[in-house]
Amino acid sequence: MGKVLEVIDLTKIYDGGILANHNVNFSVDEGEIHALVGENGAGKSTLMKMLFGLESITSGKVIVNNKEVKFVSSKDAIDHGIGMVHQHFMLVGSLSVADNLTLGVKGRGFFQDKTKALKETREIAKKYNFDIDADKLVRDISVGMKQKLEILKVLYRGAKIIILDEPTAVLTPQETEELFEKLVELKKQGLTIIFISHKLNEVKQLCDRVTILKNGKTRGTYLTKDVTEEEISRLMVGRDVVFEYNRKVMNSKKELLKLENMEYTDYFGVKRLDGVSLKVNDGEIVGIAGVEGNGQSELIEIIMGSMKPEAGKVIFQGKDITGKNTGFIREEGISFIPEDRLFNGCAEEMSVGDNLIVSNIASFTNKLGIINEKKVKEHCKELIKKYLVKTKDENQKIKGLSGGNIQKAIVAREFSAPSELLIISQPTRGVDVGAIEFIHKKILEKREDGKGILLVSADLSELIGLSDRILVMHKGKVVADLNNTKRVSEEELGLYMLGVKTKEVSANG
Ligand SMILES: Nc1ncnc2c1ncn2[C@@H]1O[C@H](COP(=O)(O)OP(=O)(O)OP(=O)(O)O)[C@@H](O)[C@H]1O
Ligand SMILES: [Mg+2]
Repeated sequence: MGKVLEVIDLTKIYDGGILANHNVNFSVDEGEIHALVGENGAGKSTLMKMLFGLESITSGKVIVNNKEVKFVSSKDAIDHGIGMVHQHFMLVGSLSVADNLTLGVKGRGFFQDKTKALKETREIAKKYNFDIDADKLVRDISVGMKQKLEILKVLYRGAKIIILDEPTAVLTPQETEELFEKLVELKKQGLTIIFISHKLNEVKQLCDRVTILKNGKTRGTYLTKDVTEEEISRLMVGRDVVFEYNRKVMNSKKELLKLENMEYTDYFGVKRLDGVSLKVNDGEIVGIAGVEGNGQSELIEIIMGSMKPEAGKVIFQGKDITGKNTGFIREEGISFIPEDRLFNGCAEEMSVGDNLIVSNIASFTNKLGIINEKKVKEHCKELIKKYLVKTKDENQKIKGLSGGNIQKAIVAREFSAPSELLIISQPTRGVDVGAIEFIHKKILEKREDGKGILLVSADLSELIGLSDRILVMHKGKVVADLNNTKRVSEEELGLYMLGVKTKEVSANG
């Protein structure tokens, strides 16, 4: 097996002088699955964007199949057999799977031949053994299906080297397993895969070799069988990362949040919430587990006021807040970290600083409505430092930050707002191991401060590690209420999540 791709002394300096890659050297062999790991902001996405012709190269060389290449657009990269699935999906929700697959290929425009697109989609799905509904609208398909569609898009364009930037960040454990089976099949067919992930167990399970980036520089390439997860994370972060926390015994008595018999039916007539009741007390972390699409998102949107339930009540500190708007609910004292950080979490075009204070602006405004700029600046600088947000300064546009650093900024904003209850969805999605440890400790600090926390996460080890109680949702119902003092196992949670096992749940949740 020869090298299909090699980069030599590759350097990238963004406008504004940010050094994102510094003399990076690495190579990929034909037919291997090669992992690329590193802390948030280490330069992984930047490196891949240069290989895919999306970012210009400041200096250095890229060699594909033994020839130096100079890409000026992603079309050049595609012509050389390189395909990329981005960290954030690039699909059009209002178009069908088939239209998304064929969009933009060979001069096809919006008014392409629908029948042909459907036929081609079914053919390529069959060729690679991908199970996908060609005629469904993208907005109606699951996240796992969207991920498969992104990969099919790349294969359809003839890729032999596939770059996957954090493909599993948004997948459930089951969807991840399915994706890995597909990737192994593709490898058997001779394709080469570059796999970016923060989940080191996945790197060990799936990849042949791993290259580690730190602060824009390569720290070496290893055979994955020769390094442990601990060794990889030490090379990434520069210290040992520990995931064992001391939990103080809390005497939670005061009821902060109470949901009573929530009912919700979606636009298509599917019952999303079917009599959900639950309680969150002060100093308590209540975890919610469930395969995506079993009502968790609706539950949170209803609590936060962006959706209205058909029936049921949301009571916060004894007050009925059902159907109130999000601004009102926040002012009452609920903080919120949404699952989709780019869509709901931040204003992309605004600066890091503005994003850090946007939901908390009242605390910086005097009676006349004038904002205290100096106080704002100090507050932002402090948050950036405390939450280790890697940014040039508070004036940088937030969209110029790496994925994980955007997430850290949102966590910083929500954790610094004065609130009694935190609704937290997927807090560490796309976040590196060191920062996960940090965010987990912050969540536990909030608990010790007597705050109530409702935590939705697809990461079962995170739920088990942090929660005092875990509720499992299946088909819009709470099917289990597990006291987690003895640490429930991931397998057991999985059985409840799939509806194989059920447990009596008290009426009060
Ligand atoms: N468009 C841009 N303009 C300016 N700076 C940028 C831009 N994109 C990324 N950067 C900076 O380059 C550095 C590397 O970012 P990159 O997105 O490559 O990191 P990453 O390793 O992919 O991180 P993550 O794990 O969080 O996704 C960061 O400091 C980031 O702020
Ligand atoms: Mg990235």
